[in-house]
Amino acid sequence: MRASRRDVLLGAAAASVSAVPASAADADGEGLRAIAARRGVAFGIAARADALEKDAAFAAAAAREAAMLVPEGAGKWWALHPAEDVYDFAGLDTIAAFAARHGQAVRGHTLLWHAAMEDWTVAALAEGAARGRSVLEAHFDRVLGHTAAAIRDWDVANEAVADPWNSAELLKDSPWLRSLGPDYLDLAFRLARQKDPALKLTYNDYGCEHDTDFDDEKRRRVLALVRGMRDRGVPIDAVGLQGHMHRDNKFSARKVAEFVRSVRALGLEVLVTELDVIEPETQSDPAARDARSAALVHAFISTVLEAGGSAVLCWGLSDRYSWATDDPPPLLPAENASGPPPGPARPLPLDAELRRKPMWHALARAFEGRPWP
Ligand code: G3I
Repeated sequence: MRASRRDVLLGAAAASVSAVPASAADADGEGLRAIAARRGVAFGIAARADALEKDAAFAAAAAREAAMLVPEGAGKWWALHPAEDVYDFAGLDTIAAFAARHGQAVRGHTLLWHAAMEDWTVAALAEGAARGRSVLEAHFDRVLGHTAAAIRDWDVANEAVADPWNSAELLKDSPWLRSLGPDYLDLAFRLARQKDPALKLTYNDYGCEHDTDFDDEKRRRVLALVRGMRDRGVPIDAVGLQGHMHRDNKFSARKVAEFVRSVRALGLEVLVTELDVIEPETQSDPAARDARSAALVHAFISTVLEAGGSAVLCWGLSDRYSWATDDPPPLLPAENASGPPPGPARPLPLDAELRRKPMWHALARAFEGRPWP
């Protein structure tokens, strides 16, 4: 029988354990949530409901490490609203109940995205603006109503800004744009504020972290989008920098700090919402790879915090559960297909055996304001 990619991953992770620095405090030392809290920063993780329910060791680590949970998939349109007259809150409710038991906050991801919708939604949007608006309103009504007690911060929109390599437009082509026109984000944020006046409204995107021409232009576009919203009086409270770090891309602390300060100057909060490390290859020595990932994470998180960032969430906690180690890899929209390469990826602070990796220590030191290593 052919070993699945998951077997290969776990086997490789186990084989590499001796290469990862261990510490006697690893098993029960204080978690990142406590270390970050001393800096006034909320540390959180993306969570999968089934992992919290079925994997007790993972659940214990999630409770110890995170002050905040965000559903990795359970808050997306296709999970919550699989058919027009069917809503399914099971996954979100599981995550919210876990969070309540462990004194954790929950943030929502995501009300609007061009991906992760079932066919019925895309077909309804294609029927025109009036139908699109009524679908949007019904979803916001039901979802924001159901989650009001548990979720006080939602990604109202995710990844709406166009990628510089295939569009000169500000907004990405999407079923929402085609249905409702270029004001669709204004409409969505206004509607969210109307439904729940005290909810934190966040715009979330990728491609703002590195020192590349792509990231330079993406930062310019994201800033133009949120500045335009502020100028038009559209309610928005925060910008989420996803933080899917491409390990060998160049990083400029100056550019990231400037961006964070510019967003802060508009009166908006800045959160890192989906931190992990995507590597160009996953076959070489894990210890050397971990060391490079940790240095990049330390530089990025230190920079964002020094410039006024207020929360850091990883896109998962352990390499046991990550989009970068999923088999098969996730469905991604075509323009965002530069996902992780096959092989034993090591994107997160804990390894597949829940041991703390150099990335965990890099985060701890960034929260403590200490240099790396
Ligand atoms: O395939 C089923 C689909 O038929 C069903 O309708 C759906 C409803 O629950 O589940 C689907 O399963 C998988 C889904 O995750 C489970 O939530 C999909 O096959 C799989 O493609 C999907 O991948 C997720 C991907 O977003 C697309 O939604 C990854 O786990 C998740 O880590 C990834 O997260 C994104 C962020 O939302 C936005 N930023 C980038 C980040 C990484 O790609």
